[in-house]
Amino acid sequence: MLARYVEFQVKGDELGWLISIEAQKNIPFEIKRTYYIFDTREGVRRGKHAHHKLQQLMVCIAGSCKVSLDDGAHCEAVLLDTNTRGLFIDPMVWHEMYEFSSDCVLLVLADGWYDVADYIRDYDTFLAACKNSSR
Ligand code: TYD
Repeated sequence: MLARYVEFQVKGDELGWLISIEAQKNIPFEIKRTYYIFDTREGVRRGKHAHHKLQQLMVCIAGSCKVSLDDGAHCEAVLLDTNTRGLFIDPMVWHEMYEFSSDCVLLVLADGWYDVADYIRDYDTFLAACKNSSR
């Protein structure tokens, strides 16, 4: 299984609902950066890369999208359509996000600052790196 989920506890009362995400408590890393993807045009695929070291957790806090995961040996596609569950993306997993609903807001928590050098943006380079690391 490439997809690793964390289920969030939903708190709240008659006023409404709240979910809290705490570093090293309900997610297993320190958060150094957060960003969110929204107003994505129809038919767009985003991501299309892997990271050497970065760990990330994606939560679709509104709407829905799909995420494909590929570790060089196995592929999997998952639907993110709830704000009560996060999806971990490990390092060295090629990921693409697609089929964004028009109201989709995809929140991403990451354990590192934005670093261009941590990206692998070429799929063949990614596959070669996977082969090298399994030797
Ligand atoms: P990009 O990595 O292409 O997005 P995606 O992989 O989701 O398709 O990022 C889009 C732009 O935003 C690009 O100019 C880089 C910039 N960016 C930052 O400045 N900081 C960040 O944390 C991220 C994720 C992107």
